[in-house]
Amino acid sequence: MRKVLILGATSAIAQATARLFAAKGDHLFIAGRSADRLEMVRQDIAVRGAASVGVFAIDANDRARHEALLDAAERAMGGLDTVLIAHGVLSDQKACEGSVERALVDIETNALGVIALLTLVANRFEARRSGTIAVISSVAGDRGRKSNYVYGAAKGMVTLFLQGLRNRLAAAEVQVLTIKPGFVDTPMTAAIPKGGPLWAKPEDIATGILAAIEKKRDVVYLPWFWQWIMLIIRMIPERIFKRLSL
Ligand SMILES: NC(=O)c1ccc[n+]([C@@H]2O[C@H](COP(=O)([O-])OP(=O)(O)OC[C@H]3O[C@@H](n4cnc5c(N)ncnc54)[C@H](OP(=O)(O)O)[C@@H]3O)[C@@H](O)[C@H]2O)c1
Repeated sequence: MRKVLILGATSAIAQATARLFAAKGDHLFIAGRSADRLEMVRQDIAVRGAASVGVFAIDANDRARHEALLDAAERAMGGLDTVLIAHGVLSDQKACEGSVERALVDIETNALGVIALLTLVANRFEARRSGTIAVISSVAGDRGRKSNYVYGAAKGMVTLFLQGLRNRLAAAEVQVLTIKPGFVDTPMTAAIPKGGPLWAKPEDIATGILAAIEKKRDVVYLPWFWQWIMLIIRMIPERIFKRLSL
């Protein structure tokens, strides 16, 4: 029975994943910035078999309360062995190009807040020599594109941070999982026209996340075919890439 903290628990992908943890009888501690939405998620998870569900309202960028979040999760569940970080914002690229403040706020949410919490979690799990850290990054972090490089740069920072963290925590046998979804039909992508085989449902991503945790994977592209799409994208020479409308 796992003791799982989810930050960004109101996200569609996180909710779908929380349901899977609940169905396995795990303890859950869900955190996010809207107390009302967290309560809705709590009620949903509670009837799906979770051993317990605790709630903590926090803005992910409120770094001063990150230790308190971890302490509360440990108190509520009698320990903590799995952390899933799921929150994020899809940047308005054009708005970020016109506003330094806007770009930095999004980088704070998508990268700096994540890295801040990861630093605390890593030290706790390293000292115990066990645990699973899973973070939702994105395929967007694999290569900068003109249409979304502010979001992509933040996700790329998270991906690279996790790579180093995994390298450090391997000796302590702590799993560090980087989750790279492609296009997922969630509120985050509500403004983007959808359809076609590249779009996945949050439930599909959740199934992939749980499987990757249980198989002790390091990096997972979800769905799997994004690994090959991104391999091709990364291989395109820069002199060609900069002329593409991607
Ligand atoms: N959808 C995709 O196509 C896609 C693709 C690749 C990666 N991802 C990543 O998957 C993760 C989950 O996104 P999703 O697709 O499930 O979208 P979503 O349903 O829109 O969820 C985004 C979540 O982030 C939370 N959030 C934003 N800023 C926050 C902050 N400062 N503090 C706390 N929570 C904050 C939101 O909270 P509120 O409920 O309070 O707004 C919301 O719950 C994100 O990291 C996203 O970047 C998504």
